[in-house]
Amino acid sequence: MTKSEMTGDVYYPSQEIIDNAHVKDWEKLRQEASGNYEKFWEDRANELHWFEKWDRVLDDSNKPFYKWFINAKTNISYNCLDVHVKTHRRNKLAFIWEGENGDFEAMSYYRLHKEVCKFSNILKSMGVNKGDRITIYMGRIPEIVVAMLACARVGAIHSVVYGGFSVEALHERIEDSQSKVLIVADGAWQRGKIVPLKEIADEALQRAGGIEHVIVVKRTGQEVNMEFGRDMWYHELRSLPIASNDCAMEVMDAEDPLFILYTSGTTGKPKAILHTHGGYQVGTYTSLKYVFDIHEEDRYWCAADPGWITGHSYIVYGPLLNGATSFLYEGAPNFPYPNRWWSMIEKYGLNILYTAPTAIRGLMRFGDAWVKRHDLSSLRILGSVGEPINPEAWKWYHTVVGKEKCPIMDTWWQTETGMFMITPMPSSPLKPGSGTKPFPGLEMDIVDEDGKPVKPNEEGFLVIKNPWPSMMRTIYGDDQRYVDQYWTKYPGMYMTGDSARRDEDGYYWIIGRVDDVIKVSGYRLGTAEIESALVSHVAVAEAAAIGLPHELKGNAIHTYVILKDGFNASDELMETLRQHVGHEVGPIAKPEKISFMEKLPKTRSGKIMRRVLKAQALGQDPGNLSTLED
Ligand code: WTA
Repeated sequence: MTKSEMTGDVYYPSQEIIDNAHVKDWEKLRQEASGNYEKFWEDRANELHWFEKWDRVLDDSNKPFYKWFINAKTNISYNCLDVHVKTHRRNKLAFIWEGENGDFEAMSYYRLHKEVCKFSNILKSMGVNKGDRITIYMGRIPEIVVAMLACARVGAIHSVVYGGFSVEALHERIEDSQSKVLIVADGAWQRGKIVPLKEIADEALQRAGGIEHVIVVKRTGQEVNMEFGRDMWYHELRSLPIASNDCAMEVMDAEDPLFILYTSGTTGKPKAILHTHGGYQVGTYTSLKYVFDIHEEDRYWCAADPGWITGHSYIVYGPLLNGATSFLYEGAPNFPYPNRWWSMIEKYGLNILYTAPTAIRGLMRFGDAWVKRHDLSSLRILGSVGEPINPEAWKWYHTVVGKEKCPIMDTWWQTETGMFMITPMPSSPLKPGSGTKPFPGLEMDIVDEDGKPVKPNEEGFLVIKNPWPSMMRTIYGDDQRYVDQYWTKYPGMYMTGDSARRDEDGYYWIIGRVDDVIKVSGYRLGTAEIESALVSHVAVAEAAAIGLPHELKGNAIHTYVILKDGFNASDELMETLRQHVGHEVGPIAKPEKISFMEKLPKTRSGKIMRRVLKAQALGQDPGNLSTLED
């Protein structure tokens, strides 16, 4: 067939899409890699540059601490930049950037390389050494990419904190990572207003020790406090002789850490997921190339934030490893009008759009006319990530945005996996709402409580049964927690924390998290973070948070609060507490609803039974209550 076609519930891509794709037969590639995954990954690794190649592809002698590309020497920053400036890509655009206020920048590989060298030299002049941690707290501006690559170049470990997080979240991450440098912007534009990043950072730094230098990037230009001896403007440092255009590359072992990224887990405080130079570059390079089918002439847009794993893998590293041209946009999708995204796709002729269901639902709400005003014929492939995409949103994305000719890559993966794990490729038949099948070289399954595979269409726990190069290596500073949290429940299998089912065609359907993680607008938050923010307020004695379905956000945060003696429930107090959570964790964590309670359902050992609260809120059967206190 030449046209794309929807037969029953299955969408078939057009012959043109298949003919142009890197992978024309995804099932064949999956079969080739199956049972032979070391060879599969080795072949892909050979497409990248290495200072020295590996002795062995995989070392699994100390499970679950897998190692990839043993004794190989590399630096991801070299593959992202230096490799390209030596080729025809030298003057190709690496990034096209538009600020929310209309500011514009286009940066070639040549220029990006220079900027990264300058930044690297600044870091070196501050005494940054291999293995040091650096926290980065900025909006979506080109300098965040420069800063991340500079850390990689000098061998420092970057820890990017999402610009939508606030004081306590930032403090906790600076302290846990023991960062010695903080790179921050004065502010970020969001919906026409300034998010005062430096001001938030100042407050976080009052709570956290250890930061010796703060590099401040000027973006919004408002007055900020600069602490003498600690805070320095980036544009001033950049014009000093130390910030020269050349900076020697730190040669890294393939297994040396590249970054840590904090994410919410099953219990307790956020954990620092650690990724390495060698395996991570092989995973992100290959997956982006095959799934979004990156070609030399493409302009690709991943509309996520660099502060989350999607941004790390598919705004920064994956596209640069592929020598692609990426688009980066600073602000809100509907500012100043709901056609902002569509107008930029038209203006820059973007070919690929990768975003989250929540953004699609948000834009769908404004109606088709905003989209139809623009010529979106440049689009070839669409993508979705972060949560299951509901059929209405899929259909709208497919027909109104993609004009029924763009296949939708619904990619399931996690901070921990580093790369797409369950995903179609452009040549795959699609079923709306399913991420299709595991990426080549991956063995995955759905199991019951005892780790036994469930029958087709039965719900169970999603697990991964073999290693892959871009897998997390550990939780930084806490190897035991890594073992306990991911590898203990089902020995030999990686536990994803998601429930899913697989249909008779082998297609996977993700249902959702089975732990205390709440996905709000695709953002990953832990009940513990929201609860501890509530409890840090003087009026609150105890708190519980749960996620409940929400039309736009996927899930919304609902909280239950017991007040301390002397405080009375009121609408004002409710608003104060919402603002307090916003101030401590970030605006995304503000509870949708706060219910004041006399008591919370608890186990006899004192643990809050969130599932009971959830069942009650949804009018469902709370299940086994034998452990309930009373
Ligand atoms: C969820 C984001 C359904 C899932 C890349 C996973 C998805 C968690 C999808 C990881 C998808 C991500 N369909 N659910 N396509 N993609 N998820 O670490 O619950 O922020 O465990 O990584 O997001 O969230 P994280």
